[in-house]
Amino acid sequence: APAPAPTPITLGFEAVPKSLADTVVVPAGYTAKVIYALGDPIDGATPAYKNDGTDTDFDKRAGDHHDGMEYFGLNAAGTARDPAGSERGLIAMNHEATSHSGLASTYLHADGGTDTLPRPAAEVDREIAIHGLSVVEVRRGASGHAVQAASGFNRRVTPLTPVQILGPARGNALMVTRYSADGTQTRGTINNCGTGSTPWGTFLTGEENWAGYFTRAAADDTARGGATARSVVSLRRYGRNAGAASRHGWETGGAGDVYARWNISQTGAADTDDYRNELNTFGYIVEMDPYDKTQAIRKRTALGRFAHESASFGKVSAGKPLAVYMGDDSRGEYIYKFVSSANWSAADADPANRITTGDKYLDAGKLYVARFNADGTGNWIELSIANLDIANYATYDFADQADVVVNARLAADAVGATKMDRPEWCAVHPVTGEVYYTLTNNSNRKLEPASSSQMAVDAANPRSYTDAKAGVTGSAGNVHGHILRLRENGSETAATAFTWDVYLFGAEAGADLAKVNLSALTADQDFSAPDGLWFSPKTGLCFIQTDDGAYTDVTNCMMLVGIPGSVGDGEVVPLNYTKGDGSTVTVNARVGAKPTASTLRRFLVGPVDCEITGICETPDGRALFVNIQHPGETIVKADIGDPGKYVSHWPGNAGYGAGGANARPRSATVVITRNDGGLVAADGTAVL
Ligand code: FEO
Ligand code: CA
Ligand code: CA
Ligand code: CA
Repeated sequence: APAPAPTPITLGFEAVPKSLADTVVVPAGYTAKVIYALGDPIDGATPAYKNDGTDTDFDKRAGDHHDGMEYFGLNAAGTARDPAGSERGLIAMNHEATSHSGLASTYLHADGGTDTLPRPAAEVDREIAIHGLSVVEVRRGASGHAVQAASGFNRRVTPLTPVQILGPARGNALMVTRYSADGTQTRGTINNCGTGSTPWGTFLTGEENWAGYFTRAAADDTARGGATARSVVSLRRYGRNAGAASRHGWETGGAGDVYARWNISQTGAADTDDYRNELNTFGYIVEMDPYDKTQAIRKRTALGRFAHESASFGKVSAGKPLAVYMGDDSRGEYIYKFVSSANWSAADADPANRITTGDKYLDAGKLYVARFNADGTGNWIELSIANLDIANYATYDFADQADVVVNARLAADAVGATKMDRPEWCAVHPVTGEVYYTLTNNSNRKLEPASSSQMAVDAANPRSYTDAKAGVTGSAGNVHGHILRLRENGSETAATAFTWDVYLFGAEAGADLAKVNLSALTADQDFSAPDGLWFSPKTGLCFIQTDDGAYTDVTNCMMLVGIPGSVGDGEVVPLNYTKGDGSTVTVNARVGAKPTASTLRRFLVGPVDCEITGICETPDGRALFVNIQHPGETIVKADIGDPGKYVSHWPGNAGYGAGGANARPRSATVVITRNDGGLVAADGTAVL
């Protein structure tokens, strides 16, 4: 019989309501099952997680704060990469951070840990080890996918794992440390947030808020030559002022070098005497081969150094350069694109090649930063030492192209890029090739900036208001964030100009439609602070995950599923603001077509005090993996002995692991399936 005709993809679920319950809510007809939580052993020999603060050996257990993740298929025998493998595969994921009330990672220690300096080595060792990456094998069984605890593919990467520095900064003087006199290596990766996967089957991870793990002495500016010294300008631009304390005090863990490296003060005569340059070795897109532990992990410096989130490839075409889209998640930071020097060869998708292929495409190319114009056009500006705005920049004297990529924020300042409302993830629509960016929120977006760290409203970041519930007067920033999208001119990955609009403005349903709820979100669609963003290659559906502080009085964080249109499908809406002196300012918001009940629905709500972040699926679209990050992260150390005061007990309260209804909360991966075995979130058979 002939195959049935494909039918268009539609949303295959009923919207779930907002929720404050300490559980994962999914639509009727779907099941969410926990498969991998903080502390779960990954080597077949480490004991089960007791979750009472006495566990050790965290380099053989799941890390904390599960974040971005990607799925990599295996063949049925589990011996080789199979991009179509749905029954068996690897999940590679980030462990971004750890829940802490003071210096110590509270839930990791029996008494909540030591919040004074010096920190005990035994506590520091646990806390370092629960950062980094995981790779775990999953297999589909009678009750769905489960982690294979003894798989030989399983591994942890921690902030101590040796890592190679590749690209323009390899061997540069900026990378020389006591650990690597030739500037070609560093140890580990940290604060890994968003992810990506490459056309050659490897994992990309972004290093985000890495600066805060390091400390610098109050006198360090003087030691380095004063406020105008190049390293001081750089350190300040990346958020490490002299005298800043480190997040966890790891530098006090003991005499060993693995502790000393977290203090980046200049103390010796030469770059190899201390860790003055250690911060230059963090802040990159990092590539790992999930299938091959013997391959070195590579920091791809050509893609720039900043607070990275995800890395998304533009549509891949034979004979054309590859584009990688990226964002810098901090208030007023920028949107970037890397374009490879090499043109794509389809032969490089051969499942046997993998990370050595990355050496071809990700170590040489052009790094661009975005400028958004009020008329709905935009430009990519190359960050090149040949650009006179960069070469002659008064604030910082760039030495060479390596210096430009290492100090990409300063180079982007020099060329006048557009300061955005905290770019989090980006994702590329698998059919249109349009590039979507979540701009999560920005408390510093002001009608009348009062300091140099604040930004005025502009067309690409057009909202600033005091209180979405009370009204729209005043100027407290972009509270709920928005999702911007762009289309490259000619749909070319190497284009230097584009058009753009805003797919969705986050808002609370019922808020002022003219000034706040610009996308007219209903109660089944409303959200705040978009963060994770992903398109299913199977269905073309858009998944939006939230990390919200502004709407958590009404609902826990959530995930929505949308069917977006394309750039320019909506309208231009003038936003009229009145300044303190009575004068008015009009900013034209470019609002995409308003969603309908058929094109945007809430699919999932998480437990208390979590963020929903990280998503991937099996190639057949029938198992969707989602990460629940830091349930119950609001913890007071004094309450550690009183579980009744924990705001969350998930997933123990869902029957997973030790502790039950009194369990310490744990970040965890859930797998979501449709009870009838169909595509998750979708009806129909054809990609959009
Ligand atoms: Fe780790 Fe920008 O969220
Ligand atoms: Ca994020
Ligand atoms: Ca976030
Ligand atoms: Ca978080």
